[in-house]
Amino acid sequence: MSREVKSFSRPETRRLFFALWPPAELSRELYQLAGNALRGGTGRRVLPENIHLTLAFLGSVDASFRECAEQAAAAIRATCFTLMLEKMGNWSKSGILWVGPNQTPSPLLQLVQDLNAGLAGCGYEAEQRPYAAHLTLARKARPHGDIHFMESRVWEVNRFHLARSHTHADGARYEILRSWPLNSPAA
Ligand code: 2AM
Repeated sequence: MSREVKSFSRPETRRLFFALWPPAELSRELYQLAGNALRGGTGRRVLPENIHLTLAFLGSVDASFRECAEQAAAAIRATCFTLMLEKMGNWSKSGILWVGPNQTPSPLLQLVQDLNAGLAGCGYEAEQRPYAAHLTLARKARPHGDIHFMESRVWEVNRFHLARSHTHADGARYEILRSWPLNSPAA
């Protein structure tokens, strides 16, 4: 009697997301800013090299999804823009300390919309909540005192990235896999 042996091989998946990455100097400043904001309080700061602004979180996806997502990214024709980081906040429920713009610049909204539209062709279901442009500076954050005032930082955004999230016992580490340039605004 022969017995059929079935092998169940699961496709390998990776946690991927599209994001903007600040220049190293700005990340260092933001890291220090988080340190000041958490003085007298508690929280786990995001390391400077891990500070980013998420555009679209894909979750755990396989190689064919990644290929489709990369094609969608390559088709994006969005323009460079200036992002003013002028507001610090704390989402107390999720314990996130963040910085962001007072108003999301329209080219950033356009970039997120275009990505979501392109990714829909890969089977991606975009986040239902309105897009909240932010860079997470600390988790499990309980700042002490008023954190809302900050001196504005200017960030000239001229590319976006596909990144992978590696989960470790001591927190996540992010790896940039690919980058795409944004177009110069028409003169
Ligand atoms: P956060 O920084 O506000 O936590 C990689 O995990 C990035 O994707 C993080 O910046 C995280 O945002 C964002 N993200 C969005 N939705 C997520 C989800 N459901 N799970 C994990 N990360 C998510």
